Amino acid sequence: MRTVNLYKDDVGRGSLILVNLNHPIKSSMKIPLMPVDAEYKDICMETKASTLLSRLLDTIGSKGKIIPVSGYRSKEEQEQIYEESLKENGMEFTRKYVALPDRSEHQTGLAIDLSEKSESIDFIRPDFPYTGICGEFRQKAARYGFIERYAKGKERTTGISHEPWHFRYVGYPHSQIIKNHHMSLEEYIEHMKEFPYEGKHYFLKEKSRMTEVFYVRKDSHKTTIDLPDNDLYQISGNNVDGFIVTLWRQ
Ligand code: DAL
Ligand code: ZN
Repeated sequence: MRTVNLYKDDVGRGSLILVNLNHPIKSSMKIPLMPVDAEYKDICMETKASTLLSRLLDTIGSKGKIIPVSGYRSKEEQEQIYEESLKENGMEFTRKYVALPDRSEHQTGLAIDLSEKSESIDFIRPDFPYTGICGEFRQKAARYGFIERYAKGKERTTGISHEPWHFRYVGYPHSQIIKNHHMSLEEYIEHMKEFPYEGKHYFLKEKSRMTEVFYVRKDSHKTTIDLPDNDLYQISGNNVDGFIVTLWRQ
């Protein structure tokens, strides 16, 4: 067994952090960024999310057909977008489609807004249908770690209206589990608490591979967990009250 120590700040880091009105961004760490498409150098995501999105776009051959509209935003940019939308669209619209500063996933580098190519693209609500090349993107998105973050019917849990254009990197297999169970990220973070470190873990069996997932509640100062020696693992904070551990069983 190897021992891993996690600290308070780690709760706010990782690809599974929940960011919404009730759970603002905790981490102030600098995010390593990379453009998702060489033709749109200003539109970046966190490096791993960016790499996987580029691969997904390449796989479906969507160059020139799917356009990245908005990726990483600084707090100042989110403030500006919120203020401008308030002026142009009013409070009701803005509350539905624009998160408050520090409550936006775009500040994490893990979110991307995509549009089907067209003459005019709406910056806040781009058109990203469920058919054609955008449909192909949706079919493969979970394989690459992405979920449609603000799905229809989940408005009450996400606090945001249906946004067919906004995708969030959470990493595989979480994206697949979320998709299989039609959950929002809010629901997934809660659901994982049914699989605590000390109890029965979640297992996902695929072909010859077994992935194990469980939740670790944070202790007041330092959280210590023991993991098997030889398994690959990944730990993400949930930005609420603990961590989600993913183990790829040998
Ligand atoms: N459109 C999403 C909710 C954001 O502004 O982060
Ligand atoms: Zn978005």
